[in-house]
Formats: sequence, C-alpha cells, structure tokens
Amino acid sequence: MKILTVLGARPQFIKAAVVSREIKKHPDIKEIIIHTGQHYDINMSDIFFEQMQIPKPDYYLGINGKSHGAMTGQMMEKIEEVAIKENPDWILVYGDTNSTLAGALVASKLHIKLAHVEAGLRSFNMKMPEEINRILTDRVSNLLFCPTDTAVENLKKEGFDNFPYAKIVKVGDVMYDAYLYYRQFAKKPENVKVEKDFALCTIHRAENTDNTDRLKNILEALKEIAEDLQVILPLHPRTKKIIESKNINVDNIAIIEPVGYFEMLWLLENCRFVLTDSGGLQKEAFFAKKPCITLREETEWVELVNVGVNKLVGADKEKIVSIAKGIDEYFNDFNSVVSDLYGDGKSGEKIVECLVR
Ligand code: UD1
Ligand code: UDP
Repeated sequence: MKILTVLGARPQFIKAAVVSREIKKHPDIKEIIIHTGQHYDINMSDIFFEQMQIPKPDYYLGINGKSHGAMTGQMMEKIEEVAIKENPDWILVYGDTNSTLAGALVASKLHIKLAHVEAGLRSFNMKMPEEINRILTDRVSNLLFCPTDTAVENLKKEGFDNFPYAKIVKVGDVMYDAYLYYRQFAKKPENVKVEKDFALCTIHRAENTDNTDRLKNILEALKEIAEDLQVILPLHPRTKKIIESKNINVDNIAIIEPVGYFEMLWLLENCRFVLTDSGGLQKEAFFAKKPCITLREETEWVELVNVGVNKLVGADKEKIVSIAKGIDEYFNDFNSVVSDLYGDGKSGEKIVECLVR
C-alpha cells in the first residue's frame, strides 16, 4: 500500500512524526512525503525532522510566504503532479493549514482516497483561515480521524453520517501520543537564561498578529506580567516581523527564536502557566498539567474550557493580567479533572490500522 503524506507547517511535522513511526512498523506500507515548504526556517521545519526522526521528504515544493490563494493554488499544482506520478492508495493530511487544504483538494479531484487527521474540529469563527481549511478538508475526506467526542458530534451535526463515502473514526489525539513518547527527550533551551519561575507564551494567529490593537494589548499585558515573573516567548516569524515593523516595545519580555519540540517540552514541564493562541499548545499545557490562558475568543478544544483548565481571554489586557496574577484562583485542580480527554496515547497506531483495513 502506498500513502502520500502532505505536510508543510510546524504542528503537522509533530503529528506526522507520530503516524510515520507507526507506518514504519508495517513493511508493506510505503510512505511518500511531500513537504510543501510552507514553513521553511531551520527552527520551524528541519529541527523537527531531525529531533523526531521523520523520514526526509521525497518532494520539497518550496512554496511559502504568499497570499492564501497563491499559496494554496501553487501547492495544488505541484501536489497534483506528484500524486499523478506516484498514484497512491491514500493521501494523508493533517490539521487545518493551507498545506492541508491543498492536499485535500488534489486528492478529491483525482479520486484518490483522502484521510484527514484532526477531523471535525470547529471554532465556528468563519474569519479564521484555519476554519475554512478544516471545513473544506473534512467535506471531501473519506476517512475522518477525530481526536475528541466533540469533533465526532460536530461532523454528525453537519450530516456526515449520511455521506456514504465518509467514515468517521474517533482515534484520540496524535499530539497526546507525541507528548507521551517524546517527553523523555525534553531538553533545556540554550538560547535563554531561564529563571526559576516563568510563564511560557506563544502568539502567531492572524487574528492577533494582523490586528495591531490586539497585538499591542497582548504585548502590554505580557510586559505587565513580566514585572513579577519571567515571560518566555519563543516568537513565530510572522509575529516577529510585525513587532519589528510596527516598532512595538517588548523590552522586558524574554523573546527567543522558535524552539525545537524537545525544548518546547522542557519549557512546558517547567513553566508556571501558559499563555497562547496556538491550538497545539493549549492541549500540551493540559498534558503537562499547566493552566492555560488562551489569547482567543473561542477554541476548537472546548473540553479544556469545560473542565476548567483553560480560560479564553481574547486580547483583553486587563483580563489577561488579572488571571495571570491570580493564577491559582481561576483554574480547577488538575487532579480533579478527567485525564483521558484526548485518548490513550495510541492514536497513531489506530490511524495506521484503519488505513490498512
Ligand atoms: C500557519 C497556519 C496556522 C498554524 C501555523 C502553525 C495557515 C492558514 N495557517 O500559520 O494554522 O497554526 O501555521 O505555526 O496555513 N514564515 C517565516 N518562516 C517560516 C514560516 C513562516 O518567515 O519558517 C513567515 C512567512 O513567510 C509568512 C508568515 O511567517 O510571512 C506566516 O506564515 P504562513 O505559513 O503563511 O502562516 P502561519 O502564520 O505560520
Ligand atoms: N512548538 C515548538 N516550538 C515553538 C512553538 C511551538 O515546538 O517555538 C510546538 C508546540 O509545542 C506544538 C506545536 O508546535 O506542539 C504547535 O504549533 P503552532 O502553535 O505553530 O500551531 P497550531 O497548533 O496553533 O496550529
């Protein structure tokens, strides 16, 4: 059996690492990897392939830094060429990036079966490019691997039960598999002097970075928090470019280059709490039993909010600061919260078994 994996952005490398490890256990499956090039800096791409020993991509498309239309269209053109040449049994895509959508559209037009890992997630915010990517990818998928009950419910409400070509399978979250396996390799980052107590932060979502008022509010909040507690911010290149171009003052925030996954796992294990607009990091905060202040108005990972370990604060400076300063008051005790929200750590295995079947 031949699987054509399409990936291109940081969270996809981590997810694909889990599934590729499982694929390698099946000598009868050949995985061919297309890296679209959406993320291309060493610390946004190569480092994950090295640390997690993901097989070297068979095809590198080098498409990045473009508008949504140009990026998705150019990716489609190249992915289509490879798909025709390789004629795989499955095209496998992850998450909700432009690389995901490009892979999905090519598969459906060529009548190649499509499997989507992280299907069924919805924020119900149609202004998010990721929401569009998720909805469209799911709609043309044959195998929809859902991480949570909520994801399954979302698909059922959208009528997926009635689509004869689509099969929904709840497998749990591959990010949990990744966390459980790779945490043994957690490594202190070398590019920052870490203080005893610190908060870990990431910001990269378009809704925050492309709106200067929101970005300034968030950074002002971080600066105020940093008066009491070190704030470490591994900075996405998108956000870095905007902070520099707008000349925003970020003096007392410990800004560093994006880190590898092993360094991120160390930061997660050792931080006091997390502030983020990332999807993946919200769950990893939960896995590491750290309160998470989410810099968005809504989340796809609603179960974290429901069990009281994640607070949605948007870009409201006062809210961010007051929750950060009274962190213990606002969150449920992790020991009283169910721990299996994201499966049993065997999602990768289930995905590959399903593809084989
Ligand atoms: C993309 C995904 C988002 C995901 C995020 C993970 C889409 C629509 N969005 O957002 O869902 O959460 O990846 O991190 O696909 N850049 C660099 N170096 C890099 C990577 C990016 O300089 O290695 C720059 C690009 O040139 C561009 C900007 O960052 O100017 C944004 O990159 P892009 O891939 O368009 O979107 P992300 O914000 O990374
Ligand atoms: N991550 C990382 N280094 C960083 C920032 C994030 O390894 O400097 C990891 C993070 O731990 C998580 C994944 O990247 O596993 C999430 O990716 P990102 O936040 O870019 O995307 P999202 O999950 O929001 O789509």
